[in-house]
Amino acid sequence: MRSHYCGQVDESLVDQEIELCGWVNRRRDHGGVIFVDLRDREGLVQVVFDPDKPEIFALAERVRNEYVLKVKGKVRLRDEAVINANLKSGKIELLGLELEVLNAAETPPFQLDDQGVHEDNRLKYRYIDLRRDEMQQRMRMRSQVSGFIRRYMEDNGFLDIETPMLTKATPEGARDYLVPSRTHQGEFFALPQSPQIFKQLLMMSGMDRYYQIVRCFRDEDLRADRQPEFTQIDIETSFMNEDQVMEITETMIRDLFAYVLEVALPNPFPRMTYAEAMDRFGSDKPDLRIDMELVDIGDLMEDVEFKVFSGPAKDPKGRLIVLRVPQGAKLSRKEIDGYTEFVGRYGAKGLAWIKVNDVDAGREGLQSPIVKFLPDEALDEIIKRSGTQTGDLLFFGAGNANVVNESMGALRVQLGHDLDLVSREWKPLWVVDFPMFEWNERDERWNALHHPFTAPSGSLEELEANPGESLSRAYDMVLNGCELGGGSVRIHDTAMQHKVFEILGISDEEANEKFGFLLEALKYGCPPHAGLAFGLDRMVMLMTGASSIRDVMAFPKTQTAACLLTDAPSEVSAAQLKELNIRIRKPVTEA
Ligand code: AMO
Ligand code: AMP
Repeated sequence: MRSHYCGQVDESLVDQEIELCGWVNRRRDHGGVIFVDLRDREGLVQVVFDPDKPEIFALAERVRNEYVLKVKGKVRLRDEAVINANLKSGKIELLGLELEVLNAAETPPFQLDDQGVHEDNRLKYRYIDLRRDEMQQRMRMRSQVSGFIRRYMEDNGFLDIETPMLTKATPEGARDYLVPSRTHQGEFFALPQSPQIFKQLLMMSGMDRYYQIVRCFRDEDLRADRQPEFTQIDIETSFMNEDQVMEITETMIRDLFAYVLEVALPNPFPRMTYAEAMDRFGSDKPDLRIDMELVDIGDLMEDVEFKVFSGPAKDPKGRLIVLRVPQGAKLSRKEIDGYTEFVGRYGAKGLAWIKVNDVDAGREGLQSPIVKFLPDEALDEIIKRSGTQTGDLLFFGAGNANVVNESMGALRVQLGHDLDLVSREWKPLWVVDFPMFEWNERDERWNALHHPFTAPSGSLEELEANPGESLSRAYDMVLNGCELGGGSVRIHDTAMQHKVFEILGISDEEANEKFGFLLEALKYGCPPHAGLAFGLDRMVMLMTGASSIRDVMAFPKTQTAACLLTDAPSEVSAAQLKELNIRIRKPVTEA
């Protein structure tokens, strides 16, 4: 139907007759001439209709925004004065010779250039929202990213193998989405939280290198960087150790950034142990763009009178840290109260602070409700350790170590953004040496920090003797404070897999019922294997600078896991339910 894309027309085509198809971005009547900005995937071009072709002119007068047109015309240079430097086609325009309205359009529910459209409206009319240049660019980058990754994987000998969507639960820590079976009444499939078990089975099948760009489903609390269905770049290899997996995937990410964004990421990425990340940043996905750290001062406070500090300082499960906020002394009381409330959401009981008005003036230079409780030597040492300067603010976190890490780690990131202390850089790193297990206080049992197929660093005996201290052979790739991907060397030994299930409190019976097929497969020649999965959506979110994962998915769900476009999930017919032998128990409502 067309000879060119609108956005590709430029001065190289001057005097040629071409045919374009696209949407009316805007129509303007200008003293007897009509200008139509015609838009397609590649961009805009200005079409001019003169009154000396009355029929076409009359038709052009009737077109409205978002009409779909086919135009034949002649490319001509614009006058110097009306050149638009922002458009590729800005030096030319198309003189309209023929015009066909391929389809009319009602007035759209929002204008494409309106920046303030409520997200619900954008999601309901997603097909219109996606016409916006910003969304077109994001979808295009997403396609570039997945295209690049496919080529990289293929070039490195990885086989693209599909795994089932109708399957059995895979433990990745979220709730499953269930699908009722009609042919096995009362039984359910689970949609995969990840292809984890299948990719391990593929290694046992001798496939050696597997990858898949694959949809995963997790029914969990949603946030800006989480969706109930999302896409993983899923990878598994045989006979490779953690260093080799990290190297091949790190190279992929570095090459990807160079290709798509022309950004040179560091080579190699720095590595940090989980313990160091928690100590310095209170997080296992530290944002290294922010130059602030949690500094331990517990040893200085064991004997002070201030119980808020001495308690956690003496408690083996406690932690006491100071966080220096560069030039933070300018914060108002109200702002400090705001941050106190912020850390409260993570369970912190308070947020002590000191404003350092003059670092050389000793006690006199410090402004704070708590300095009166603290001895001079301790104050001096705090200032020395944290590298404090005049004009800084010190925040203190005291209490249970987990609460201090979580709350002060989150505060660090929040302050970084609020005070513009985030450097404009790309800061990737690997986090390694994760603990195998974390203690679940509520259920009084161990949980797997990664997933139960992750190999421990030590022997079976060491694991058994001290599960809490055992480290795993897992690794996470973190970029700018976001977990891009994670993986591990897997257990390939039956006895070890049984032991891990046992420590997790999964009985033999339960293990057999849930993962019997995996345990059995381990017996028939399982190679040592390792792998990793990246979150494609998160990767594209970071690369496009989008603030929500929804902005890089064509048809995302809302925060309550619904689709406003199709109105899913929705009720189904009585006949369908009957066929499945399912009866719905309506929530009881008060009359
Ligand atoms: P994990 O659970 O860490 O590992 O997931 C891998 C990556 O997937 C992304 N991700 C998500 N993205 C969007 N929305 C979500 N709800 C969501 N959940 C996870 C993250 C994360 O780093 N089978 C293992 C991988 C392995 O061991 O090989 C797994 O799924 O970017
Ligand atoms: P209080 O003695 O409870 O009035 O607290 C004195 C100061 O210590 C206040 O600024 C509190 O915000 C702060 N504070 C209380 N509990 C903690 C805590 N767990 N961590 C850090 N600061 C705290």
